[in-house]
Amino acid sequence: MSTVSVINIGICGLGTVGQGVWKHIERARPELEARLGAKLVLARASVRDLEKKRDVRLKPAQLTTDPLSIATDPEIQIVCELIGGTGIARKVTLAALKLGKTVISANKALLCAHGPELFATARKHGGQFFFEASVAGGIPIIKALREGLVANRFRRIYGILNGTCNYILTRMEREGLAYPVILKEAKALGYAEADESLDVEGWDTAHKASVLAYLAHGTWVPTSKMVVEGITQLTQADLTFARENGYAIKLLAVIERDLERNVLSVGVYPALLPLTKAIANVNEVYNGISVAGDIVGETTYIGRGAGQDPTASAVIGDIIDAASQLVRGGAVLAPAPATKLALTPPAALRSRHYLRLDVKDQPGVLAKIATCTAKAGVSIASLVQRPSEKPNAASLLLTTHESNEAQIRLTIARLSRHSCVLGKPLLLRIADF
Ligand code: NAP
Ligand code: HSE
Repeated sequence: MSTVSVINIGICGLGTVGQGVWKHIERARPELEARLGAKLVLARASVRDLEKKRDVRLKPAQLTTDPLSIATDPEIQIVCELIGGTGIARKVTLAALKLGKTVISANKALLCAHGPELFATARKHGGQFFFEASVAGGIPIIKALREGLVANRFRRIYGILNGTCNYILTRMEREGLAYPVILKEAKALGYAEADESLDVEGWDTAHKASVLAYLAHGTWVPTSKMVVEGITQLTQADLTFARENGYAIKLLAVIERDLERNVLSVGVYPALLPLTKAIANVNEVYNGISVAGDIVGETTYIGRGAGQDPTASAVIGDIIDAASQLVRGGAVLAPAPATKLALTPPAALRSRHYLRLDVKDQPGVLAKIATCTAKAGVSIASLVQRPSEKPNAASLLLTTHESNEAQIRLTIARLSRHSCVLGKPLLLRIADF
């Protein structure tokens, strides 16, 4: 019988997520403690600026600007790292794990950059590391992959993993608003990263894809081995074309394993996804993930992917799991055994594609475009011409038959060099899964 009857929690980072965790533990404390059979104490928190106004009340003695003093406080058993980034957050996490403590993290950037070191440190010193809030906000996808679907091998995991980008794309399409206006709103709502380029340039999704690939396949794929593209080049014309042709444009993470050849690929890019897919209809700040297991078949998870409340829900879920282990004993199931999987070279990935290019509006241009694509071995499936915002120009929206990434890159290079093409063409994949 355990003698642990009080669990002391330290919150490093009392921003959007940290304040949500504090607020919701205060509110739900009686139910949580009754289920746990132990007292939960929100002991201390760290911030950068002691003068900043907060939505939660703490005694001055509970607040510090030194998160390491929380990580190493002998009274604190559970340390929540809710600071973000890979600097002080890494130091705090490692310091607590080296003391055999439990760390709860929402930090996908840290996991992607230093996952092997964090897990090895936890193993070596008997600490525990929980990270449900690092992927897909309030959706318990980590638990689903690690526990519920443990019997499966995964051919394809794909979906929307960034709430900010999905919010931007949804509002752009529905209201015709410009992307910077909506990004400002997403920041005010607490959805975006402190450095919002991580969201809109696809890196946050790539960090999360790396975590999911590790859980599903036991292999850490660095972002340098992925195709990573963001949403900054998309316009209303692309979203409208997609909708008129039965697609939605979504920023997708796609993790595919060829189980026969045992190769893995991880990519992040905006893609045209058929509206018949559940994920294509996941809008606003919601995330959606489709997981195809070889035994279970396809399962789909949808929920709010960013913001204070859904993220706090995931962090508190981890706190209660961790506290329950401290009270009753036990440990989380280890992730999939480390596997050395070859990665599919990005150039070999196959897809249909969508291209948008502005061209000079003059005779013979279409023939020149068709020659460029043909020389790269890419076959055009459809082409429409729309007015361009540029003078004496037309906008061409093309779809292609399937080709590999190398062929389509060659096409783009040839088109970009052609004097009749104005500016760099936009290239999107068509996700005909
Ligand atoms: P945030 O609002 O910017 O909060 C960060 C907190 O850390 C603030 O309290 C800040 O202090 C403190 N801090 C920042 N830099 C520090 C430093 N160098 N030294 C000490 N303290 C420092 O960020 P957030 O949105 O809560 O995100 C926190 C983590 O959760 C990140 O890893 C993020 O990726 C992840 N996450 C966020 C969401 C979301 O929807 N927001 C969802 C899932 C995961 P001050 O308050 O004094 O500035
Ligand atoms: N900035 C992230 C997003 C927060 O928008 O999805 C949740 O991880």
